[in-house]
Amino acid sequence: MSIIILAIESSCDDTSAAVIKDGVILSNCVANQEIHKLYGGVVPEAASRAHQINIVPVVDTAIQQAGINKEDLSAVAFTRGPGLIGSLLVGVSFAKSFAMSLNIPMVEVNHMQAHILAHFAEDPKPPFPFLCLTVSGGHTQIVKVTNHLEMELLGSTIDDAAGEAFDKTGKLLGLDYPAGPLIDKYAQLGKPVFEFTEPKVGELEFSFSGLKTAILYFLRKKIKENPNFIEENLNDICASVQYRIVSILLKKFKVAADKTEIKHLAIAGGVSANSALRNGLEEMGKEMGWETYIPRFEYCTDNAAMIAVTGYFKYLKKEFVGQDVVPVARWNV
Ligand code: KG4
Ligand code: ZN
Repeated sequence: MSIIILAIESSCDDTSAAVIKDGVILSNCVANQEIHKLYGGVVPEAASRAHQINIVPVVDTAIQQAGINKEDLSAVAFTRGPGLIGSLLVGVSFAKSFAMSLNIPMVEVNHMQAHILAHFAEDPKPPFPFLCLTVSGGHTQIVKVTNHLEMELLGSTIDDAAGEAFDKTGKLLGLDYPAGPLIDKYAQLGKPVFEFTEPKVGELEFSFSGLKTAILYFLRKKIKENPNFIEENLNDICASVQYRIVSILLKKFKVAADKTEIKHLAIAGGVSANSALRNGLEEMGKEMGWETYIPRFEYCTDNAAMIAVTGYFKYLKKEFVGQDVVPVARWNV
């Protein structure tokens, strides 16, 4: 009999549902929340309210697009954490009641593990062991992946995440949230002519909060000299900031590859949609003789397909949870 799983993702500001059948994604629906643009960042209370509005239609659409009936489902997988508690609560509560009404098991999923396992949604799949640089709005991690569900954290950020560095820079530049995709777009029209220094931290550690402060002081000084500095130099500023963030990420990833002697390198998470990071990793891979794995755009930012893939591997191991499960804001891979 086929294994068909409904997956729910609601850890931050995207409500998503997906259906997977015997390891093959049948549908993946995402509802973005526009409301956060008004505030220049995710407002947790607004996010959980929007999840409440979106979750039923998103699940309905995912089931319809998959061409199945809800009675065909073998289990419900859901993101238990890490993330915003109010947002997670909506998905977890929905998953509990949905599973109970159908009398089927539930599978809890770690959002950061799922970003990595998005690579198993389609070919080519990285062979074990591989390294994954997971870069999102809340995390920046280098992870050694020895099996689908066996991962070791080799390094992470001591303050801001890479996505946060993009988003906070965007706020300083007056760009809409999330600013990552906009900075990427403008950077392609500019040159990295402004220099921002690299942070001095441990070998496999990241730090982005100093960069944010450096950009703030840089802009203040330049605007004093020329009030139109941002408008006149937006593309070059974006190119310079992006150059620095990407060079920090790739440098540390190379250190991890050298230390572990692992030659299969993957990127995951929202920031892996960045064109400079994607091109940079590919070029470095050619130079170093690595095999590199870059996810399709749809699987970079938050989506339930990655929750479905992870849920499927956990289902095969019969790793189920009971109705007493609660969401968690923090949870290591
Ligand atoms: O993985 P994700 O969708 O959500 C979290 O789990 O945080 O990542 C969202 C982050 C945001 O910070 C967003 O600005 C960033 O990914 N992002 C990008 C790009 N697309 C999304 N950053 C740089 N370049 C992009 N093209
Ligand atoms: Zn994410």
